[in-house]
Amino acid sequence: MRNSNWTPYNDPVESKRSGPVYNMHSYPTKIDYHSIIKYILYYTKPGDVVFDGFSGTGSTGLAAISCDEVDSKIEQEFQEHNVDYKLGKRKAILTDLSPIATFISSSIALPVDVKKLEQAAVQLLEESEKEIGWMYKVMNDGVEETIRQIVWSEIYKCPNCNFEIDYWDVGVDFENKTFKDTFTCPSCNTNLEKSACERVTEEIYDDVLKEKASRIKRVPKRVYVQVGKKKYYRECIENDIKLINRIELTPIPETVPNVKMMFKDGNWGEMYRSGYHKGVTHVHHFYTRRNLIVLGSLWENALKAPLEVRNQLLFLISSYNLSNSTLMTRVVFKKSVEDLVVTGYQNGQLYLGSISLEKNIIKGIKEQKLKNLIKASGLFNVDKNDIRISTQSITDLNIPDNSIDYIFTDPPFGQDIIYSEMNFILEAWLGKYTDNKNEAIICKAQGKGLVDYKELMKQAFSEMYRILKAGKHMSVVFHNSKKDVWNATIESMVEVGFRIVETSILDKKQGSIKQVKSQNAVGKDIIIGVIKPFQENALKTLSDDECNIWDHLSDVINENYKSKEEIEKDKQFLYSVYLSYMIKNHFSVNYDAKDFYKQLKIRFLKE
Ligand SMILES: C[S@@+](CC[C@H](N)C(=O)[O-])C[C@H]1O[C@@H](n2cnc3c(N)ncnc32)[C@H](O)[C@@H]1O
Repeated sequence: MRNSNWTPYNDPVESKRSGPVYNMHSYPTKIDYHSIIKYILYYTKPGDVVFDGFSGTGSTGLAAISCDEVDSKIEQEFQEHNVDYKLGKRKAILTDLSPIATFISSSIALPVDVKKLEQAAVQLLEESEKEIGWMYKVMNDGVEETIRQIVWSEIYKCPNCNFEIDYWDVGVDFENKTFKDTFTCPSCNTNLEKSACERVTEEIYDDVLKEKASRIKRVPKRVYVQVGKKKYYRECIENDIKLINRIELTPIPETVPNVKMMFKDGNWGEMYRSGYHKGVTHVHHFYTRRNLIVLGSLWENALKAPLEVRNQLLFLISSYNLSNSTLMTRVVFKKSVEDLVVTGYQNGQLYLGSISLEKNIIKGIKEQKLKNLIKASGLFNVDKNDIRISTQSITDLNIPDNSIDYIFTDPPFGQDIIYSEMNFILEAWLGKYTDNKNEAIICKAQGKGLVDYKELMKQAFSEMYRILKAGKHMSVVFHNSKKDVWNATIESMVEVGFRIVETSILDKKQGSIKQVKSQNAVGKDIIIGVIKPFQENALKTLSDDECNIWDHLSDVINENYKSKEEIEKDKQFLYSVYLSYMIKNHFSVNYDAKDFYKQLKIRFLKE
């Protein structure tokens, strides 16, 4: 029997920031689905329907379909607290406004023949290697090297003498392991602030736009290569430049998106910065020409793959696209490492650094993403009917009233992440975009302030209230550093009728859920537990279905009784359970004891 004082909100859940699903994509603020399993196990039973309307990459759905197994820690914890949970899949309904979010969740969760997928992926990479692998091959002293990464540096203009300053030469401080914001002009020796120097631009013919364009001038500096098993780096040589020139003459595939950032001219959004986004008017301006051609060609070939594996192949390419294939890809310094460390983009931003990294996409997908995809795709043994995923706004759902057993959801935290901008680049490749009219965020570029945010959140909670069964639970992950945003969220939840019953902390950084130990805890997301109460305080006469009484009794019986004899023996006690539920929820009592026993017999004691 459940210990009435303990709920999953009380104790921390250890969950790793790793694993094939977590590593498969870089969607901002994703939650590790393992963190959610405990909540679903506690608040639902097998076959129940779990909903997440801000589902992002589908963590709630993945947790729901993973409830047929439990890790030893949760098992131990539930045993300690006498929680009689039931293993078995729950059904999931997931919606999100963003097509790339639902594309990711479908690619991971929906069933696929893993063997066929692996064969198709290997074939795709082999064919691309044959077609365009030459773009990463360079001859050096009679030896063919495979390029793994190239470091590019921006060129700045000295405001004093107009000298073109290569940031690599003056700004990368290997001794102090830092990228400098101030440096000395190598020509006139003036001390300069980087922010006071203009970026040098160059005129090019943009053959996606079919017109002349201007872009920030970048030069290749360091090249990381591989020969056989030997890996090393060297300075850029003449043959690297010759290769780049040959690539300049190679046409860009039709599949490369030709789309204005956010469909706007000039300052295209909240994340636009006039400095490092100089010349970045369209999606393709985030890439080097080489990587644009490679991605375009991979995409083109994936589109020709059999339908049964096509989306997963496109997902494989997407998973390496934004995070590792644009000019946002970085090198960083780390305390424990002597030299520069190669990494991906800065998640949650569209930041283009003064030093950027061009990675070998075919190699990266093959070595980093393919294994993950195969592992992740094999994890979920689902039937199509177990999970329903759709792209729509939570403010207007096509889901029936009182049909959902539990909600776990993670809405945008006010102004923190502008998802429609963050997702725009990948959505441009998909050719499907977020309709951001109802995006629940605070964002100047969209003309949405706190009042608009609160209204959107209220509409969202009102829909969640409508579809949740009465008496059932919802967990909402939230955080913001501004009290007004907090209050707007809490008020909108309460105003539509939810009653707050619990709180806890989710540490997305460490990927774990932590108990509230200190009132001063900051910087971690809070999980708010609410219930949909049986509305008014006055006694209400409702049908059995409307007040969910048999669902409730079925939970109690399943948790506490092993045989029909035991139920029969305890029927008086069960009548008390019934009465206590009805009274607590302000329902008039529908059955006297005799009629209740009849119902009990029909529902639980029949052969
Ligand atoms: C914090 S993220 C969810 C991340 C998710 N928990 C995961 O693990 O991937 C919030 C999501 O809300 C979505 N969103 C914003 N406004 C929405 C709306 N009106 N309807 C549905 N989804 C919306 C965004 O696209 C974003 O994916």
